[in-house]
Amino acid sequence: MLSRAITLENGQKGLLVVDENTRIRDLKPQKLISVLTNRYELERSIRHKGFEDVRFSDFDFNPFPDSSLDLVAHRVGKDKSATHHIINQAFRILKPGGRLILAGVRKEGTKTYGEKASALFACSAESQTTSLGARIVILQKNGEAKENFLNDKDYSLIRNIELNEELVVSSKPGIFGWEKIDQGSKFLVENLPSFEGKTVIDLGCGYGYLSIQAKRLGANKVLATDNNAAAIDCCIANFEKFEIEGSVEASNAAKHWDKEIADIVLCNPPFHKGTKQSSSAADVFSRSMRKILKKDGAAYVVVNAFVPFEKAAKEHFDYVEVLANNKQFKVLKLSST
Ligand SMILES: C[S@@+](CC[C@H](N)C(=O)[O-])C[C@H]1O[C@@H](n2cnc3c(N)ncnc32)[C@H](O)[C@@H]1O
Repeated sequence: MLSRAITLENGQKGLLVVDENTRIRDLKPQKLISVLTNRYELERSIRHKGFEDVRFSDFDFNPFPDSSLDLVAHRVGKDKSATHHIINQAFRILKPGGRLILAGVRKEGTKTYGEKASALFACSAESQTTSLGARIVILQKNGEAKENFLNDKDYSLIRNIELNEELVVSSKPGIFGWEKIDQGSKFLVENLPSFEGKTVIDLGCGYGYLSIQAKRLGANKVLATDNNAAAIDCCIANFEKFEIEGSVEASNAAKHWDKEIADIVLCNPPFHKGTKQSSSAADVFSRSMRKILKKDGAAYVVVNAFVPFEKAAKEHFDYVEVLANNKQFKVLKLSST
């Protein structure tokens, strides 16, 4: 839906801002369009499609000067502070008369984002609904902003978050559950053994809660990875804060790492609503865990109690045990010895 709305004349320049909600298979490479994405695998795929200028960061717009572009396009996501940040930054980098195009489907708040942005852009939002029910909102930048920037909760700022009386971490908006301890991860930690002297991988690390706990449980070294740029930035900050030995790297499900590098993998994998998507994520994560674990290593995984993760795990591991189940979550141990 977004691709068709992007029109640029010769000499004009645009920016497409992409997160996990953008259907990239519809995107056609255009020389005039740069791409900014916060997802590691999307940067790879979009580059592979033939786009020339593709940047991976936590929606860092600093490389784009004020009033420099003719168009910014974004398919809105669930994260309100990220969307507000993108709208505010789009206003800054658009030339006077430049257009912001927002796209979304029903109930995603596209119209509301358009209404809020219209005060900033000093124009009324032009809204269209496509035959398939998608909504496209177009705003044209008029004049200079005064005080109508949208509340983005200081999107770019990494700050201290007190998770409980004993634990203050570095975190920020744009990360899964950025202000709290995930209840699944908490349940996982309650069911872990000691990791004295072990190398532990935190797969899908977020701000690094499981990495911090791995160090507390005696890990010698922790390798953390996520596909989300905001998670990587905060996890690096927490490695410094908690003096964790190891490294933090962006990846798609740890596929970039060599075989047999870890004793332990900890994972609270991402799950989507659809059964098909869930089983393919389970397969991708299980396969990757098998590869990066030493032969006698083990993965400890927490999933919602209803997710049939075991089925995919059994394709890659000889033993799949349910260590604990509190009806909301289950903790699995995957091993091959
Ligand atoms: C349920 S959260 C768990 C976060 C963190 N481990 C915690 O306990 O708070 C799942 C994490 O997986 C990450 N993720 C999703 N898809 C991924 C992928 N393909 N590769 C790496 N990480 C991914 C998400 O960005 C998110 O941080």
